Amino acid sequence: MPGFLLAIDNGTTSTRAIVFDTAGQIMASSQREIRQYFPDDGWVEQDGEEIWSSTVDACRNAISAAGVGAGDILAIGITNQRETTLLWDADSGDLLHRAIVWQDRRTADYCTQLKFAGYEPAIVSKSGLLLDPYFSATKLHWLLQNVPGARQRAEQGKLRFGTVDSFLLWRLTGGKVHRTDATNASRTLLFNIHTQRWDPELLSLFDIPASLLPEVLDSAADFGTTQPQLLGGAIPINGVAGDQQAAMIGQACFHPGMAKSTYGTGCFVMMNTGSTPIRSSNRLITTVGYRLNGQTTYALEGSIFVAGAAIQWLRDGLKLIHHAGETEALAGQAGESCGVYLVPAFTGLGAPYWDPKARGAIFGLTRETGIAEIVAAGLQSACFQTRDLLEAMTADGTSPTATLRIDGGMVNNNWMAQALANVLGVTVDRPQVTETTALGAAYLAGLKQGVFRNLNDIESLWRCERSFSPNMDAQKQAELYRGWLDAVERVRKHD
Ligand code: G3P
Repeated sequence: MPGFLLAIDNGTTSTRAIVFDTAGQIMASSQREIRQYFPDDGWVEQDGEEIWSSTVDACRNAISAAGVGAGDILAIGITNQRETTLLWDADSGDLLHRAIVWQDRRTADYCTQLKFAGYEPAIVSKSGLLLDPYFSATKLHWLLQNVPGARQRAEQGKLRFGTVDSFLLWRLTGGKVHRTDATNASRTLLFNIHTQRWDPELLSLFDIPASLLPEVLDSAADFGTTQPQLLGGAIPINGVAGDQQAAMIGQACFHPGMAKSTYGTGCFVMMNTGSTPIRSSNRLITTVGYRLNGQTTYALEGSIFVAGAAIQWLRDGLKLIHHAGETEALAGQAGESCGVYLVPAFTGLGAPYWDPKARGAIFGLTRETGIAEIVAAGLQSACFQTRDLLEAMTADGTSPTATLRIDGGMVNNNWMAQALANVLGVTVDRPQVTETTALGAAYLAGLKQGVFRNLNDIESLWRCERSFSPNMDAQKQAELYRGWLDAVERVRKHD
């Protein structure tokens, strides 16, 4: 079919817009960094206005770089950092506070109180999630409690809450729609993944007025139309999914047992579990993988808060490198067994530990340790954390398929991809298009437009660029991983 699909990918550290052709090939892209604010220990914020302006800029640039016009774009798909919480005025669209980012831990004590009060089991069984500051509900509760006048205005129906997708939909449609999709809703702690509705008991537990919440649609649906003056024409928005779910779609993990692992700011392993929501006994979460034509496909997810962000810290915080691209050669100098472990618990530890008060550390330093060893340890930390997640999935009795599909900026690093295969002891496959998150959003928009008849059409487009098979002996592999588990134990706070 002639025409193009535009994906908006608002990740944690940047906004990207990518124009794809209908065979899923990239025609042009544009990227804008998003500034991060760290106002207190464990707090992470972003300016919602910057999220918005970077989105419009990136879209305009990508459309123009592709040499097309708004009329050539069949539809837009939006994908986004999940859980990040925004609150705005229903009339003016003005934001009441900076966005509270998914990594933010300010509600750790509130979560602990609810846990001690015995609420966690009910929350887990309804939402599939855990009581952790990671998810939106406690962040929204914090905003209602701490922004002057917010609770009162919310109770009068004058405010709207949204994750980044809802906020962008609101702005792109000129305030005409307040919507989200089931994958994003499933990250809020307010959505019942079994009934596929906002849950009145969860709303009352977190003291959230229902009038704040968006309408929840399938991931491929009519989400509204862009205001013509924004991008040069009215373009339908037909796809929305949280970024990890979009990556699962971009990686064509459409059959139970298929798993992908995405290395962006954090790292997220997701395994398709089909129409069955599997409840983890090992602190993984159950989430909506995608919802199409009213049918929900569930996924088991392990969420790691810091993967690429550790490399960003080596670059911007420690200034050990100038560019992430240098890490491949440096790590190669150090090797995989240099004995240095970096535990990047900058904002606590995610799955399977869920320890919001843990903080990062580097272990195993000697007089031989230099930049190369620390860089290697930074890359390996993403590999070890992935192993933690796969161990938990196996302990849950699930059987992921023999290979793991990987994507995200970090996996362009061949050293890291090989180290990952070695630490996991499984083959990892890197696809030709590693922008799988944006690709997944474009696919969703294309599905609704009829560019793709069904998921089989999308599956047939997936191509492996390179496979990495383990090449380390099992004893060495076990020894390395034991060292990691020991390092993690040393940073834990065990709330
Ligand atoms: O749950 C948070 C996640 O959606 C963030 O993704 O790509 O910014 O690491 P990313």
